[in-house]
Amino acid sequence: MEDLKAAITAIHRERPLSTVVLTGAGVSADSGIPTFRGEGGLWRNYRPEDLATAAAFARDPLLVWEWYEWRRSIVREAKPNAAHLAIARIPNTLVVTQNVDGLHQRAGSKDIIELHGNLFRTRCVREETRRDALDAFGTLPPHCQCGALLRPDVVWFGELLPVGAFERAGRAVRAADLLLVIGTSGVVFPAAGLVSFHEGLSIEINPQLSAISSACTFAVAANAAEATPPIVEAIIDARTHR
Ligand code: APR
Repeated sequence: MEDLKAAITAIHRERPLSTVVLTGAGVSADSGIPTFRGEGGLWRNYRPEDLATAAAFARDPLLVWEWYEWRRSIVREAKPNAAHLAIARIPNTLVVTQNVDGLHQRAGSKDIIELHGNLFRTRCVREETRRDALDAFGTLPPHCQCGALLRPDVVWFGELLPVGAFERAGRAVRAADLLLVIGTSGVVFPAAGLVSFHEGLSIEINPQLSAISSACTFAVAANAAEATPPIVEAIIDARTHR
């Protein structure tokens, strides 16, 4: 893989001290979690407007919850893969993820911005209170103690990102020596716009060309679990042999 070798050579030359890792559904594909737009992707089989909008939830909260409970059951069975585990080893790193699966946390990453929320949290539609919800619900749709409906604490199409999340991510991407972009099609904004904030070395890992491949210094055409560990090895190595 020439592009991987070239990216590793650049890391050794530039010796990045700070890294931001921007991830999408592709980083969890090697854990058996379907992506959204790839082959067998969720949006190939379901219509986002039926399941991932506030209007869809108002129309049919049971349908929406049945779908989220199904996704939660898949993620509960899944394990962080070699890419998640390698990312958790990079010192002084911020993970900015579009994923709602919590696999970066489970892999040991500490500093994480969840731009699109988390499947294992709920939010009361009346009080806006958030609560962890790891286990499957007995009855659907679940309700808050106040009697109002609970919704998944995820960002649906047409909704704003969590307060301050994008701003903090943008500042970090601007300041970082290295930006790693792993497993995103780069078509959903504002997350995809973060790449344009970065001027230094950027490396994409994705088996397919994405909408942001041309904005990166290197586009490594590989699966996340395959290419991320050697890239992380190079980052750690370059730091120890300064
Ligand atoms: N390793 C790395 N990348 C992969 C792998 C893999 N094993 N398998 C697939 N990919 C790549 C695909 O080539 C594709 O470019 O991952 C990308 C997944 O793209 P999407 O399915 O569009 O997912 P993502 O970019 O995360 O979507 C953004 O859209 O539906 C909303 O809120 C949802 O957060 C999501 C957002």
